Amino acid sequence: MAEMKVGFYGHVRQYHNLKREIDAAILEVLESGAYVMGPRGKSFEQELAAYCNMKEAVGVNSGTDALWLVFMALGLGPGDEVITTSNTFFATAEAIWIAGATAVFVDIDPKTCNIDPNLIEAAITPKTKAIVPVHLYGQPAKMREVAAIARKHNLLVIEDNAQALGARGDGFALGELSDAMCTSFIIQKNLGCFGDGGAVLTNSPQVATRIRQLRNHGSLKRSIHSMGYNSRLDDFHAAVLSVKLKELDKWNDLRRARAKEYDAGLAGTSLQLPCALPGYRHVYHLYVIETEDRDGLQAYLDSRGITALTHYPIAIHQQEGYPWGQGARISGSLAHSERSAARVLSLPMYPEITSEEVKYVVEAVRAWDQGRAGKAGSAAS
Ligand SMILES: Cc1ncc(COP(=O)(O)O)c(C=O)c1O
Repeated sequence: MAEMKVGFYGHVRQYHNLKREIDAAILEVLESGAYVMGPRGKSFEQELAAYCNMKEAVGVNSGTDALWLVFMALGLGPGDEVITTSNTFFATAEAIWIAGATAVFVDIDPKTCNIDPNLIEAAITPKTKAIVPVHLYGQPAKMREVAAIARKHNLLVIEDNAQALGARGDGFALGELSDAMCTSFIIQKNLGCFGDGGAVLTNSPQVATRIRQLRNHGSLKRSIHSMGYNSRLDDFHAAVLSVKLKELDKWNDLRRARAKEYDAGLAGTSLQLPCALPGYRHVYHLYVIETEDRDGLQAYLDSRGITALTHYPIAIHQQEGYPWGQGARISGSLAHSERSAARVLSLPMYPEITSEEVKYVVEAVRAWDQGRAGKAGSAAS
């Protein structure tokens, strides 16, 4: 195939495809003069709640804020242990620490890279208050198992759904089996704005009201305050997100179609390919393969004009200086998380990537894989 450049992100293409609608939505907000806590923020919250089939959505400044604000709204704080995984984006654990609680890491299922429910009970102590499953790469964690453990031990469940908006489990919806669900709208997410944004979704009107208060300087009524913060989703981003939300299912279908092309094209190579659980709707926020020589493959792809990135190359408990004086505990071995961190590589994946581009990436990965097999063969002979 002729050489080409394949970038890692598609958000500029996405903007160009929707330019007329997005420009009009931004202009409308500009002219309205209502830039924060205005009508577009409210209507987007209603649309998002309806999309997720949940009672309440509250827009905040980022996915990170969504997490720690909901931890605070649910009363988590110093002395409380919160179980999660170590191979997630740093913010999952960071939010636990911002709330003043102790992060407890359990290992992942090496196939899905999501929390292994079989390991959760061993991590529970009298201090445990919550579990935070992450729907990593766009595939739901095994929520039925997580929710059953939470019920048995009277624990809260907060879903970190920054990466899987629009995904489904086999017979369960995201947000359905937990106390609250958090999402992120940072640029590259399946539903992304043009900067930072996030939301808390919940079926509890009390939790939603508390988040509304916390995000706005502890205020639900003008000039009446309690302790809070400033973390609001502005109306510009809400207006853009309203336009994009209508496209989300179609975009996720496109991600799934391109993932199928990667799967077929890379079958038979030495790479570990993403595992899509039967009956789940995986929405491929990222298409992550694993190989022992991840750095070699990344460099080779770069030499062919293809950007591949790593999510996440250092597990949180292996970050330098961990745990920075914060409360943290490791339950059992994190061998699968560590192995995954050393091996993961994300290939370009976005709704706007073309089949032609996927073909080019596949051809490059296969060429690298064959070269590697050839080298191993000649070393052995
Ligand atoms: C799994 C996960 N959790 C939390 C976050 C934090 O979201 P944000 O970047 O909007 O703060 C992200 C995204 O960046 C994420 O991928």
